[in-house]
Amino acid sequence: MAFTPVCKTNYLSEGDWAPFIVAGEPIMLVWPDGDRPRAYQGLCPHEDATLESGIFNGRLITCTAHGWVFDSRTGKGLSPPGWALEQYPLRIEDGWIQVDMEMVLE
Ligand code: FES
Repeated sequence: MAFTPVCKTNYLSEGDWAPFIVAGEPIMLVWPDGDRPRAYQGLCPHEDATLESGIFNGRLITCTAHGWVFDSRTGKGLSPPGWALEQYPLRIEDGWIQVDMEMVLE
């Protein structure tokens, strides 16, 4: 595994999200309400719209291009089902949120 420091932990709060470029790829760091920070691909699996311009309400991620909705705790598509955001391993170490872009979680 090759974890890359993305941002200091105090940059992100529960219920918040933020876009980053890691290893040349856009990602979204998402901290769902009542959960832990997660790292997802930054482009919608429908037609690659940037999720940065979407909506996150603490539980749901909505791509505003065509309205697809994802569960922020799993990345799984809720509307429509059968799709998912790729999720990358994330760890917190030495005050940094770190992401491993070489692996996708199932
Ligand atoms: S590109 Fe996201 S819903 Fe179509």
